[in-house]
Amino acid sequence: MTERDVPGFHRVIVGRDAEVGYHGIIAIHDIRRGPALGGTRMMAYESEDTAIRDVLRLAYGMSLKSAFAAMPFGGGKAVIMAPRSPADRAALLRAHGRFVNTLRGDFITGEDVGTTVADMTWVREETEHVLTESAVSVDSARTTALGVFRSMEGALRGMGGSSELRGRRVAIQGCGAVGSALCELLHDAGAELSLSDVVAERAESCASAAHGRVVATDDILREPVDILSPCALGAILDARSVEAIRAPLILGAANNQLADDSVADRLHARGLRYVPDFVANAGGVIAAAPDLLGWTRAAVYERIDAMRDEVISLCEEAQRAGYTMLVVAMRRARERMKPT
Ligand code: NAI
Repeated sequence: MTERDVPGFHRVIVGRDAEVGYHGIIAIHDIRRGPALGGTRMMAYESEDTAIRDVLRLAYGMSLKSAFAAMPFGGGKAVIMAPRSPADRAALLRAHGRFVNTLRGDFITGEDVGTTVADMTWVREETEHVLTESAVSVDSARTTALGVFRSMEGALRGMGGSSELRGRRVAIQGCGAVGSALCELLHDAGAELSLSDVVAERAESCASAAHGRVVATDDILREPVDILSPCALGAILDARSVEAIRAPLILGAANNQLADDSVADRLHARGLRYVPDFVANAGGVIAAAPDLLGWTRAAVYERIDAMRDEVISLCEEAQRAGYTMLVVAMRRARERMKPT
């Protein structure tokens, strides 16, 4: 294990287990509010530096998310560099569990892009500091989708219209766990959907369930819709791609949607509203509350419903001050990023 000194971060540690081909990084941004919560992402990274850049951004995003949602957690994240040669997945995840365990509860993990709930049972063999399915668990992807849906209602209201989704056109990029659950909620609410996924069958299956339209992955950003909802991977909003966007509201579940924060200013200059990812996708963090804090399901749904009013107030403050919602949300999150 080697420790990296990264300014502004509580700890950044690189772990290796040559025997099983494990190479992972855990970044803990902040633990003042409580243990750092963050999933474990497994991807083929070009280099350790690329993986470190990714994990730092994601861990910081988790701090903002927990603080903004007023949850008693800090922010952290883990990445596993997917081995280039075939490896024993269970052994890799057990090695990761041992690595997580060295942090003695300062970091609590769960599934993320590239890992599954089932994978976490291997991690669990080595550490108790991991969320797996339990009798009290709520489905994180569904809870996240519901939070995105409530945020959409709030943003529509905060922008001066009705919060009704009926008849609104929504384009969803990414029909995975969250995107497909969101598709269902929006369809039930009477929205018209455009859907895209690099795995064509996922978009097709959502489209057939929700009477939606499949759109080529290259075209989804320029769909003439009321809301664009990025629910795939991060960094899809950059200086070039935002010029194509026609939706007046951008609000989705994907983490780190902006290639960098200046993209929010570009969107603002074009008169388009962007609800920060860490605001809209906080349902994932709230979903951990039954397991970690003993909350009831009803308390989870109550908190998710409250996201609607928080987004209304965010929109209104941003509008009054002439700032982007990113600026206002960051300020609120930083104010709340103090011990509870
Ligand atoms: P997932 O892996 O189930 O779904 C992502 C989907 O996006 C996949 O179907 C994939 O094929 C598709 N995709 C990838 N690149 C694409 C592209 N360029 N165009 C169109 N589709 C593309 O992941 P999940 O769980 O649905 O998460 C989606 C996003 O939401 C991720 O960024 C994740 O970090 C974030 N998130 C997820 C939470 C959860 O509880 N699952 C909680 C909070 C955030």
